[in-house]
Formats: sequence, structure tokens, C-alpha cells
Amino acid sequence: MRTITWDDERDCIVMIDQTKLPAEHTTYHAETVPELIESIEMLRIRGASGLGAAGAYGVALATRRNDADDFEAFVDAVATDAEAIATARPTAVNLSREVDSLRGVLRSCTSIPEARERTLAAAEELADVDVARNKRLGEHGAELLDDGDTVMTHCNAGALATVDWGTALGVVYSAQEAGKRVDVIANETRPLNQGSRITTVELQERGVETTLVPDNASGLCMQQGMVDAVIVGADRVVLDGGEEFGDQGVVFNKIGTYKHAVLADRHDVPFVVAAPHATVDTERSADEVEIEQRDGDELRKIYGTQNAPPETAVYNPAFDATPMELVDYLVTETGVYEPPLDRAAFEAEADRATP
Ligand code: MRU
Repeated sequence: MRTITWDDERDCIVMIDQTKLPAEHTTYHAETVPELIESIEMLRIRGASGLGAAGAYGVALATRRNDADDFEAFVDAVATDAEAIATARPTAVNLSREVDSLRGVLRSCTSIPEARERTLAAAEELADVDVARNKRLGEHGAELLDDGDTVMTHCNAGALATVDWGTALGVVYSAQEAGKRVDVIANETRPLNQGSRITTVELQERGVETTLVPDNASGLCMQQGMVDAVIVGADRVVLDGGEEFGDQGVVFNKIGTYKHAVLADRHDVPFVVAAPHATVDTERSADEVEIEQRDGDELRKIYGTQNAPPETAVYNPAFDATPMELVDYLVTETGVYEPPLDRAAFEAEADRATP
């Protein structure tokens, strides 16, 4: 099934519950907006594109759970819910962007039944677009890979981080479809272990030979010549690096991505970022991007068992910033780009992307 979709019978959102993987393959029904927000915060649904779809379906859900006698009051109530959904996690631009796009649909409606019908139709369309553009992105990225290559990936930027197919792992699946054998080294991705809990599961389901490594082994793997390319996804790509990075763009992705870009540079391993234009934020600079800080207990405990004294101070950023100068290839649904990017030309490419 898709990572997230609409359950017509129960008239609510249904998603694969990624917090239960790999032990259980179960689904979770978000029947209310607070249940959706909790699901986003605790990473039942996650990954930039997955969050984008959650945002869109979330507005559709809000139109169903709000009732009001007059349309203006209804729009206000849905807008309040939409704002809470959009800000449930701050770093992936897709979440707030898709909520905003659905708000636009809402604004063009004139009655509650129309709003309910059209927001759900728009969310379904967006989910279909996500799958289609990931397939195109995958086909472009697959051209970078040769038969027999081994790709290292960090976190999970696969089908489970999107509606389906994935971005970084979509490149691997497209290479596989093109008849190339590509193996994957999956970094565990502490502290929430998306690499070991999620990436391994979906790669194995698709018959990709996968080796799990602790994050700390990735430098050694590159040193020993085990890696032909590092391919990661992105939560937000900005083209303006702001004060710290200047006119270089910056890729915000799972904590540890930057370290892998530096290691790849050191070992002459191509460092590839796979992300659709919907993840490119052309409006903000790197200075304006908030890196989500998560609860210290994600480090103080491991699966409920104490891993550090309860009072230990913790710094737990969920994402980091990789300057574009460390990115060899940026793969989108419109092609493969080699930084430094020609900003105007790259932005114009976004117009060729599926709306
Ligand atoms: O905290 P997560 O699991 O939502 O982080 C996910 C990532 O960092 C992915 O690499 C990114 O969202 C790209 S997935 C299309």
C-alpha cells in the first residue's frame, strides 16, 4: 500500500505506522487533526514528501471534522487546524508548502460540501503527483549508477519517506528496473534508526542486497573502497546560503548527512542528493531554516531502556546543513544538475516539473 492515503470507508487518513517497524507492519488511522499532528510529531508518517502528503490530506481531514453554520466560520476553523498541521515539524518545506497549497483550494470554494470534496480531490492528486515525479527523478538518477555499484544511503529516503517509490532509494529502484544490480549500504541513522528500522525493510522487500552499518562505520567503508556513491534525500534545499554559506545553496537533511558529504569528498566518492523541486525552497535563505530539535530522551533512552543518566544534558538536532559545494549531483524530476547551480536556470526548471 501507499505510505499514506485516504480511507473512504472510515473517511479519514490511513498511514503505515513507521514507529512499529520492523517488528510489526501495521497501519494507523488518523481520524482527527490532533491524531494527525501526533503522528507527524512521533514520526508515524515522516520524510519530506510523506509529510507533504500528510499536510494535504490533513487539510482535507480538517474540512471533515469542522462544522459550522456559516462558511466563513468554517474556513477560519479549518485555517486554524491547517496552521497547526503546517508547523508540526519545521524543517521539511513540503509540509507547510502542501498545507498552503490546500489552503488555496479552500479559499476558492464557496460552500462546505464543495470544500470537503475539492480538498480531498486535491490531496489525492498531490499524492499521485508525488509518485509520478519520484519515478521520473529515479530514472534520471539511475543514469549515474553502473551495474554492480554499491550505494551508501543515510536515513530513509525511500518509498516510506514519500507516498511511494522514494527519492534516494527511488534512484536505486529505477536502476534495478533498468536491469542494473545495485547493492546498498544502509547507515543505521541514530538516534531514531530510520536506516535500520525502515530502509532495510523496504530494500529487502524489493530484493535489493542490503548491508546495515553503524553510522560510525561509514568512513571506514569509504576508506576501504566499498562505496561507489552516497545518495541521500533532502528535507529542504535552499538556493541562498545566507550569511553562513553565501551564495552557495544548502541541503538540509537528516543529521549526519553533512558528515557523510565531507567523508565522500575526502574519499572521492560522488555525493548525490535526490529531491523533487517541491523540496526546493526558493523563498528562504539558509539563515531562515529552522533545524528541528527533538526530545533529549531519544538519546537518554534506547527503546525505553535508560542509555544515559536521566539528568544528562542533550543536544538532539534532527537535521543538518550540507553546503552545495559538497554536492556532486542534485537529482530532481527534471534532470541531474551539477552544482554550482545556475540559480535562474534551475528555478526555471521547476516550471517544467509537474505542478
Ligand atoms: O526525521 P525524518 O525521518 O522525517 O527525516 C527524513 C529525512 O531526513 C529524509 O532523508 C528526507 O525527508 C528525504 S525523504 C524524501
